[in-house]
Amino acid sequence: MTIDKKFIDQFVQVTAKAALASSFLVGKKDKTAADKAAVDSMRSELNKINIQGEIVIGEGELDQAPMLYIGEKIGDKNGPMFDIAVDPLEGTNFVAGNLPGALSVIAIAEKNCLFNAPETYMEKISARVNEKNIIDLDFTVKKNISNLSDFLNKNPENLTACILDRPRHKQIIDELKKMKVNLKLITDGDVSGALLVTEDKYNVDIFLGIGGGPEGVLAAAALDTYKCNFQGRFIFDTEEDKRRAKKMGIIDLTKKYELSEIVKGDSIFCATGITSGDLVSGIKFEGNEFISETLVTHKSTGLKKVIKLKQNLQ
Ligand code: FBP
Repeated sequence: MTIDKKFIDQFVQVTAKAALASSFLVGKKDKTAADKAAVDSMRSELNKINIQGEIVIGEGELDQAPMLYIGEKIGDKNGPMFDIAVDPLEGTNFVAGNLPGALSVIAIAEKNCLFNAPETYMEKISARVNEKNIIDLDFTVKKNISNLSDFLNKNPENLTACILDRPRHKQIIDELKKMKVNLKLITDGDVSGALLVTEDKYNVDIFLGIGGGPEGVLAAAALDTYKCNFQGRFIFDTEEDKRRAKKMGIIDLTKKYELSEIVKGDSIFCATGITSGDLVSGIKFEGNEFISETLVTHKSTGLKKVIKLKQNLQ
């Protein structure tokens, strides 16, 4: 089974409209309002589409989120059954502070094909390698870098690693510096960070470190179409995290997940820029119209491209 490509334009419209809604809050120092605008828009656009969708990654569980909560049925209740992961506003700080890199993101897979990820941190690693045992969450940083260096035939000082700039990454960053690996430190937005390994033009060879679990699953959907490697391991620190994980059917709380266990079968991924960043430009206005750029992938057709749309504001 594949996902009909007729849905691509419809999902692009979902993230483009959510990005537009959030763009009105750029620089207003209000993360909550910016997120709410994106969520409201995304939900209403999704409900126009002829699908039977279920949110598997969203704004939280029903007790935390009234909209786009995990388990919410979405779509106009006809048509094919899909699992849907959403991050209507990825990079709330970016929108609040008018900083580069805010995105509106969605990933769609066939029913029961997208990992149902809890809202905890995830240890992640990605690179554009199509062989096993080159990069691995179980390897040391040193081993990952020297394997990648051999595989790409590049000295470590010619490699670039992308990682969230956080105190929790001190050890990893120190090790990378010791090996003279170039760093691309990001302040937020690790969906985009993980995707910088997909093409030479971004000049990033490896992405690693701990970020949000939901963001990991979303990135994995696009990385699958780019035939990149990705692994993720959830971090369940509190008893509450463990309880939620068990409720979601996760038995082995320390399991390392391969990309193929996170996203199965066909998928569509769309990320529209709210503010301009590495992957796409942000929303721009021209008179009565707005221009959006969306990075789209569709696994079964191998589609990977940026779709630029100019449409009426309303
Ligand atoms: P929000 O858009 O929810 O603010 O998330 C931004 C983000 O940077 C994600 O891209 C990343 O996965 C996560 O936060 C990292 O979390 P933390 O800021 O706690 O390190």
